[in-house]
Amino acid sequence: MSIKPPKKFFEPLAIGAPAPWREVPVALERMIHFFPPHNEKVCARIPELIPQVDVLLGNLEDAIPADAKEAARRGFIAAAQANDFGATGLWTRVNCLNSPWFLDDMLEIVGAVGDKLDVVMLPKVEGPWDILYLDQLLAQLEARHGVKKPILIHAILETALGVTNVEAIAAASPRMHGMSLGPADLAASRGMKTTRVGGGHPSYGVLEDAKADGGARTLFQQDLWHYTVAKMVDACQAQGIKPFYGPFADFADDAACEAQFRNAFLLGCAGAWSLHPKQISIAKKVFSPDVGEVLFAKKILEAMPDGTGAVMIDGKMQDDATWKQAKVMVDLARRVAAREPEMAKAYGL
Ligand code: GLV
Ligand code: MG
Repeated sequence: MSIKPPKKFFEPLAIGAPAPWREVPVALERMIHFFPPHNEKVCARIPELIPQVDVLLGNLEDAIPADAKEAARRGFIAAAQANDFGATGLWTRVNCLNSPWFLDDMLEIVGAVGDKLDVVMLPKVEGPWDILYLDQLLAQLEARHGVKKPILIHAILETALGVTNVEAIAAASPRMHGMSLGPADLAASRGMKTTRVGGGHPSYGVLEDAKADGGARTLFQQDLWHYTVAKMVDACQAQGIKPFYGPFADFADDAACEAQFRNAFLLGCAGAWSLHPKQISIAKKVFSPDVGEVLFAKKILEAMPDGTGAVMIDGKMQDDATWKQAKVMVDLARRVAAREPEMAKAYGL
């Protein structure tokens, strides 16, 4: 529940700051592609990357060494200034609130490129208080620098306390864009016994019943992240914001990456992080709806033009609820089609 009365919720938090968004702007965000902005070679390739990805994120937090934090911040600003991002989102992951770098990350980046920045990803969010602080700070900086479009906040869900407060975090501000699962920090925070970043674990499973003949029993592997992703999806979708799966760090196992992304997609996530160029195409494949499913969903919409009643299609009963399921699929397919002409052809859109 919001701690503010409804009328206050959509008032700008600083004189001269833009009015908050009423809804998260519609955007295709199948992958949030991370780049290290202190790496000049990588930055030189940004013009090639822009048309390949839905979101490009300059990472300032974990994985950037302490002695490169300032170079990364400067590199992000330079990259933002030097490129035209078109329909590709420009995000940054700033350092966490209690770090020595967060304040300068915000002051310098919003001051220099606030008009180009779509979303600030805030790590290690523990409760709504973290969002409210950044919300106020962003409003002050937007006002000071004449930023016209409110900068959104994307939280990383990666502490046990954050998961406990996930619903309040999702509801904290109209500036909330969405949330990503951070399985590495979350595993550590919870005391999980895994050194992996996302994905399954061979020991986490359900053992098949004992057999009368004493034969070998199969351990059916389960998804370690199912509970958290499902909880995050409900918290986000209930507030009209977007849930995302985060990193998958085993770059040698593309099949496992695809399987983890697909579980997230099926459960309601909009996208995942890509940390390696080859994960861009995995995310594109997984988070673009299946052509067969979209064609079937279109049949449902066509058979029920006003979305009510009951019809049979290919032996399956459809009603108002399946019409809504079909609409989720077709709306997403339209966003993909708008970006990729060959998918528009495949979907017949
Ligand atoms: C991401 O930041 C994670 O900790 O998994
Ligand atoms: Mg993390």
